[in-house]
Amino acid sequence: MWKKLLLGPRPSNEAVENPLYNGIDRGRLPVHTAIIMDGNGRWAEGRGLLRTAGHTAGVDALKQVLKVAIDLELPALTVYAFSTENWKRPHTEVDFLMRLFVDYLTKEIDEMDEDNVKLRFLGRMDELSPALKDLARVAVERMKDNTGVCFNVAMNYGGKDEILRATREIARRAQARALSPEDVDEKLFESCLDTEGLPPVDFVIRTSGDMRLSNYLLWQAAYAEFWFTDTNWPDFTPACFVEALKDFGKRKRRFGGLKNK
Ligand code: IPE
Ligand code: IPE
Ligand code: MG
Repeated sequence: MWKKLLLGPRPSNEAVENPLYNGIDRGRLPVHTAIIMDGNGRWAEGRGLLRTAGHTAGVDALKQVLKVAIDLELPALTVYAFSTENWKRPHTEVDFLMRLFVDYLTKEIDEMDEDNVKLRFLGRMDELSPALKDLARVAVERMKDNTGVCFNVAMNYGGKDEILRATREIARRAQARALSPEDVDEKLFESCLDTEGLPPVDFVIRTSGDMRLSNYLLWQAAYAEFWFTDTNWPDFTPACFVEALKDFGKRKRRFGGLKNK
């Protein structure tokens, strides 16, 4: 089903003609790209700025990367905005980030909707501020019937937390005798994850040089390809994204078998 989306209607002429996209094999684009937008703090510190300036600059990078996803009609893009571990940061930085998310959503909702983006959030939304929760709920509702890029923002998200929540839900159903242990298979488990209905992650990009998952999409990225770059997130341009996408197109994906898929 997701493969077919790549062969769907062609992007606008403007996108097709953009030389930035020259050389991309549109039949070999990832179906679900997940980005760990890391290095905002280091970007700012390297310029003698406050870490928060790096987060602000990171929002601009995100806007441009989402535009590329829209132009190339990537079926799904998921970005890591705030992890369950990021609460360990100083209060001032956490507060700044939460305000930045509110600001970002307020400003970007109209354009995302015009671009036919389908927005969704992954993670434990109930622990976020009422303002952020309300905005997110309204935005998701408004875009729920859109048919373009599935744009997922992982906020207060942790892969372990998500797996535990799914496990608890399954245990509850078993306790209520709504299912038996034999009913628990990948399909059922996936239907209890925040990513229900989304295709598996096939491409993970992490900026700023660290090579780890940091508790991101642990189940979903089970067979993903990885792309690491030393570039800090605010400097990650559309050209950087295109370079990564082209590399993905060259990967040999065997899934344990012998044939490249
Ligand atoms: C990523 O940048 C943004 C968030 C985690 C919210 P960082 O803030 O982690 O930047 P570095 O890794 O400290 O440079
Ligand atoms: C991962 O980055 C989380 C986000 C990008 C939101 P971190 O900067 O929090 O990860 P660690 O601490 O380097 O593992
Ligand atoms: Mg970091």
